[in-house]
Amino acid sequence: MIINGSTKIIGIIGDPIEHSKSPILHNYISDSKNINAVYVPFRVSPDSLQDAIRGLRGLNVVGFNVTVPHKNKVIEYLDGVSEEARLIGAVNTVKNVGGKLWGYNTDGDGFLMSFKEETGHSFSGKNVAIIGAGGAARAIAVKAALEGADKMVILNRTIDKAKELSDYINDNISDCSSFAGIEHNDAKNAIMDCQIIINTTSVGMYPSTDKCPIEANSILNDRHIVYDIIYNPVKTELLKVAEKKGSIAVNGLGMLFYQGINAYEKWMDIEFSENEIEQFYTMFKKAVLEI
Ligand code: ATR
Repeated sequence: MIINGSTKIIGIIGDPIEHSKSPILHNYISDSKNINAVYVPFRVSPDSLQDAIRGLRGLNVVGFNVTVPHKNKVIEYLDGVSEEARLIGAVNTVKNVGGKLWGYNTDGDGFLMSFKEETGHSFSGKNVAIIGAGGAARAIAVKAALEGADKMVILNRTIDKAKELSDYINDNISDCSSFAGIEHNDAKNAIMDCQIIINTTSVGMYPSTDKCPIEANSILNDRHIVYDIIYNPVKTELLKVAEKKGSIAVNGLGMLFYQGINAYEKWMDIEFSENEIEQFYTMFKKAVLEI
């Protein structure tokens, strides 16, 4: 890659940022498509967020990703946000449009594209269990409700947060949601009543790879579709049991990948073909597994 006078700058702000896989994906795409752009990581502490946004605006960068812990707070420094980012209450992608910074959330779309592509199913008319009630759960719950899920149940360790997210979905998108504490007996029954189960918590993530967010052995069967947003390990305990029980089991690598593709297409005003996307995904999986 040769950086010259017309190289476009894109990047990601977060804290910490060293673990981010996004630079690998975006720089690979630019390289392989001969797009004169470079994607750089910026470690930005919460205290420096406003300065960072001012700086990025002043430097007239093409756009940037936003990750933990800035996804909510960044909204107040932008010129506007998309309807979906407003509903989710978080921005992960910013685009510079003629000097104005517009915020988007591509996590929900990334999740949906990955889900459809890798399971062959949609949300329309389905019963969906969402485990967790944090930022990722909110993006996914909003998307699943917008996509016409029939019923949704939010299950969380802290029940107040499950109630808050469930009420939010009912009040703002569609009246489809209920909630329960994850340890509660209701949780088990609720999950058994669902076709789609999505883990949005960090339970089972490296290094605690023997942990599972639900009693998977006694709950799962071959009618379930289980999506775990964790991708390290590639197969969590939850996904291992899901496979053993004959469920469809998918990890979160696709969500990470497609949210990135979606952001790149927005920044550059392009749309990749299916073939290109397949090529990028093959590279991305290989690169992530090697790290
Ligand atoms: P993210 O943006 O990745 O969703 P988050 O907003 O911090 O991260 O949310 C983390 C989610 O994982 C929460 O639902 C959290 O449950 P609490 O609301 O009870 O904190 C859940 N979580 C994290 N560690 C957990 C654990 N050991 N057991 C159960 N749930 C856990």
